[in-house]
Amino acid sequence: MSIGFLSGSSLTAAVPLLLLVLVYKANARGCDFFTGTWVVDGSFPLYNASACPFIEREFSCQKNGRPDSLYTKYRWKPLFCNLQRFNGVDFLERFRGKSIMFVGDSLSRNQWQSLTCILHSSLPKAEYNLTRQGDVSIFAFPDYEVKVMLDRSVYLVDVALERIGRVLKLDSIEGSKLWNGIDMLIFNTWHWWNRRGPTQPWDYIQVGKEIKKDMDRMLAFEKALTTWAKWVDSNVDPAKTMVFFQGISPSHYNGTLWDEPSAKSCAGQKQPVAGSTYPGGLPPPVEVLKGVLSKMTKPVTLLDVTLLSLLRKDGHPSNYGLGGSTGLDCSHWCLPGVPDTWNEILYNLIIR
Ligand SMILES: *[C@@H]1O[C@H](CO)[C@@H](O)[C@H](O)[C@H]1NC(C)=O
Ligand SMILES: *[C@@H]1O[C@H](CO)[C@@H](O)[C@H](O)[C@H]1NC(C)=O
Ligand SMILES: *[C@@H]1O[C@H](CO)[C@@H](O)[C@H](O)[C@H]1NC(C)=O
Repeated sequence: MSIGFLSGSSLTAAVPLLLLVLVYKANARGCDFFTGTWVVDGSFPLYNASACPFIEREFSCQKNGRPDSLYTKYRWKPLFCNLQRFNGVDFLERFRGKSIMFVGDSLSRNQWQSLTCILHSSLPKAEYNLTRQGDVSIFAFPDYEVKVMLDRSVYLVDVALERIGRVLKLDSIEGSKLWNGIDMLIFNTWHWWNRRGPTQPWDYIQVGKEIKKDMDRMLAFEKALTTWAKWVDSNVDPAKTMVFFQGISPSHYNGTLWDEPSAKSCAGQKQPVAGSTYPGGLPPPVEVLKGVLSKMTKPVTLLDVTLLSLLRKDGHPSNYGLGGSTGLDCSHWCLPGVPDTWNEILYNLIIR
């Protein structure tokens, strides 16, 4: 929502109404956390990267030599309310004896890592145990019997090795065996759907009984999401399990989209886009995702991080990620950074 269109005499007339709307929104439990603006706040970041010993090099931009640090100082300010600061102790108390699992690609790993850093830094003396079993990474706080896990599953649906080769099966979701009985699930998939060439991890794509060499990728994405949605609708018990979808995390490889045509990527970006709107609009998969979610019968909360992350062209590792100075990563996010806000919103959704 934008209030920028009000001007002149219409402004005078609209002020009482606007105030009423503001007061209403501020009191509503349903404050929209996803429309807002980034403001500099000296009390950020939520943790110091050097206080997060297990942080992966990929996200550790400061350790990789990124010279500017203003990007760690931004707080997300929803238009009509304030986010409560993430309280790690409170979070662990709420989840005592419970398990949390992120499921998805490396953007899930980005958010999982952010959450483990936030929690560890709020309880630096609490024991933790970081282990791995196959595709699942497990970060445990034994004192609280809390497990924060990550299941790497880039498509959510299956890729199976068969006689003809590797088959991406849009109707098959055997990987879901790992998701039963978890208390909070946070899913995500998108970034791998457009992969082609040597890094595409499948040779064929299967829909129903039909096996093809390729198909429209957005349609494939939608079919896989529908398979996932059917799994949630028929397997999740909402009394036990909270389900979130992490939303579409955007990349920044085209400055035209933020009104800076000379920028070919996020490299050198030191500040967010000002205001509450992104000139380039939302990426197309957002609408597909929302469409699938709207047809579900079980409650799934969309962590609608796309717009707030679109504004953060400054938040990516760029030349300070895994590839170092010869790499260019405008897809993942530095930590501390933007995924901390995704987790802060997740926390606010849980406590309200
Ligand atoms: C982070 O920790 C390091 C080492 O303990 C310290 O030198 C640095 O000042 C800290 N940075 C912030 C922003 O607190
Ligand atoms: C750490 O976790 C692993 C697997 O979850 C478990 O086998 C091991 O006993 C744990 N270690 C400690 C010190 O708690
Ligand atoms: C960048 O975005 C603009 C606007 O959508 C588009 O016209 C242009 O082709 C894009 N450039 C590249 C290199 O993709």
